[in-house]
Amino acid sequence: MSGKRILLIVGGGIAAYKSLELIRLLAKDGIAARVILTKAGAEFVTPLSLGSLSGDRVYQDLFNLTDEAEMGHIELSRSADLVVVSPATADLMAKAANGLANDLASTALLATDKPVLMAPAMNVRMWGHAATKRNVAQLRADGVTVMEPDEGAMACGEFGPGRLPEPQRIFEQIKTMLEGPAEYGRLSGFRAIVTAGPTREPMDPVRFLSNHSSGKQGYAIAEALAKLGADVRLVTGPTQLPIPAGVTAVKVETALEMHKAVQAGLPADIFVGVAAVADWRPATRATGKLKLKGGKDDGVTLKLVENPDILKSVATRKKDRPRLVVGFAAETSDVEKHAKAKLTRKGCDWVVANDVSGDVMGGAENEILLVSKGKVERWPRMGKADVAQKLAERIAGAFYDPESGAAE
Ligand code: CTP
Repeated sequence: MSGKRILLIVGGGIAAYKSLELIRLLAKDGIAARVILTKAGAEFVTPLSLGSLSGDRVYQDLFNLTDEAEMGHIELSRSADLVVVSPATADLMAKAANGLANDLASTALLATDKPVLMAPAMNVRMWGHAATKRNVAQLRADGVTVMEPDEGAMACGEFGPGRLPEPQRIFEQIKTMLEGPAEYGRLSGFRAIVTAGPTREPMDPVRFLSNHSSGKQGYAIAEALAKLGADVRLVTGPTQLPIPAGVTAVKVETALEMHKAVQAGLPADIFVGVAAVADWRPATRATGKLKLKGGKDDGVTLKLVENPDILKSVATRKKDRPRLVVGFAAETSDVEKHAKAKLTRKGCDWVVANDVSGDVMGGAENEILLVSKGKVERWPRMGKADVAQKLAERIAGAFYDPESGAAE
């Protein structure tokens, strides 16, 4: 990626030191970083260490005449291909959301004509506060890409979402945004929820019912949507896969947990249900391990009850229904007939149907029928990443040209 340049705004927070690692990762990839350090940021990391790693002077003061002589704040804000705020504090986000410009960082953010990425870091309650939520929604509506913070133990001793995303994740997101300026941003400002993987339905502490879903297709779709700039929440059952770059993952085990995590993620603009949700769960979950009776019983009867249909519950919402709801249909026969029936029964806008009678589950390829109201489109056999990319492009297309529907 040599030749690319970012403007890195380092805000005030304990995570400011992680910007050093970010600059190092960028430099290794040939991406130059020019740094603006806020007054609060300078309490946590020194201009000297930032400057040594970036190989450039660090800009700090809006009214410093030398800065203005060398490079005005307007030019500074436009001399990069991308503006990155990391850590993005609640204060910096509030300023940017409201168009304040009372220091170098906020002025650069208001003056820039380049895409902006924010990697938030703050206390869990600050992140969850209605004011911050409003500001994040406003920034996203203005086209700023705001990453979801990581979850975990915080420096202040509390636990929850609010930690700065790991530098590697920020780096991947920067690369994605630098790579495809033409395509990138088509879904920026849109929120997507993708379910993926199997669910596990426990019988007792050591046994569960599940299926062969690998999660590959769902993860690939989450990644493809993120690459187009969407803010993606991946609600995933247990899989062996790494979380794709730029995606926020919520890990769950059971269908009930998946259902709850999806509801918590709403409202969203796009919902894609790829998970192979277990249709049933054991009616009871034994607290201790179920024991054999030494041949003295004539088999064990397991009572199953139905799980909620997550896709249907999203598609039939009266309030806050995502504008586009996409379901998957795994079929072993009469694919088209079943897919059409599923479209109506579940109330979704599109059904992506595949024939799982062969080696699709866990395999690398997929053969797809895209079914929407009154239309069916057959895609040639292709890799799961290609299916994901094509679907993500279709989704982006539907937002810009809703008349086009799913399939021509
Ligand atoms: N799905 C869901 N919640 C469930 C079951 C399925 O959200 N409890 C979603 C899947 O993620 C997928 C779609 O519904 O997008 C279809 O799943 P599939 O297993 O093919 O359909 P079923 O509803 O199980 O119908 P059938 O078993 O009759 O084919």
